[in-house]
Amino acid sequence: MGKLLVFDHPLIQHKVTLMRKKETNNKEFKELAKEVVTLMGYEATRDLPLEEVEIETPICKTKQNMLKGEDIAIVPILRAGLGFVDGMLALYPNAKVGHIGLYRDPETHLPVEYYCKLPTDIEKRVIFVVDPMLATGGSAVDAINSIKQRGGTNIKFMCLIAAPEGIKALQEAHPDVDIYIAQEDERLNEHAYIVPGLGDAGDRLFGTK
Ligand code: PRP
Ligand code: URA
Repeated sequence: MGKLLVFDHPLIQHKVTLMRKKETNNKEFKELAKEVVTLMGYEATRDLPLEEVEIETPICKTKQNMLKGEDIAIVPILRAGLGFVDGMLALYPNAKVGHIGLYRDPETHLPVEYYCKLPTDIEKRVIFVVDPMLATGGSAVDAINSIKQRGGTNIKFMCLIAAPEGIKALQEAHPDVDIYIAQEDERLNEHAYIVPGLGDAGDRLFGTK
């Protein structure tokens, strides 16, 4: 079974609380999303492999560690996952970015895929699928299905707020995927929104309703 890690650093908790507040406007929400994902991305990449390289300081030659040249792909689930891309790119400027477009049907709450474009050599990359919300889990499960169909194997899912139902669905469908979350909330409501949650992440990010 993949890992389920809750990144509960005080800075992350503080910023997620600000994002939840209904008075927080789109600009602030977007800025906070970038800050939180940078903090989460730092934790989520803790186990990336290092290799020893020889370098020369102004004083002498020495052997030190650098990242092992793992090729990273960041794959936001549109739309709301876009709010996570800049924060991850701040950590990994050379990462390639793929996009998966999914929306939840308002009646059935089931995801409908409308777009998928992934970086080349996806099978060789460490893939971070990013989306602020894991509610029923349908979108994350489908997005990861699409990535696996195209050859991706080393997949991690990162979100801000997860409902217990979504965590269970994702773990059952993709037991090989590590899940990184900032907070686990209580439940889903009758519209499959997370309670207390933060509302519709896409609308809060882009100012739509
Ligand atoms: C939101 C969110 C997730 C999905 C989570 O997207 O960004 O992708 O819902 O719900 P689930 O776990 O029940 O599938 P939404 O469908 O609202 O699309 P949008 O980002 O285009 O607004
Ligand atoms: N999508 C959102 O944006 N928010 C929720 O609470 C559930 C799904």
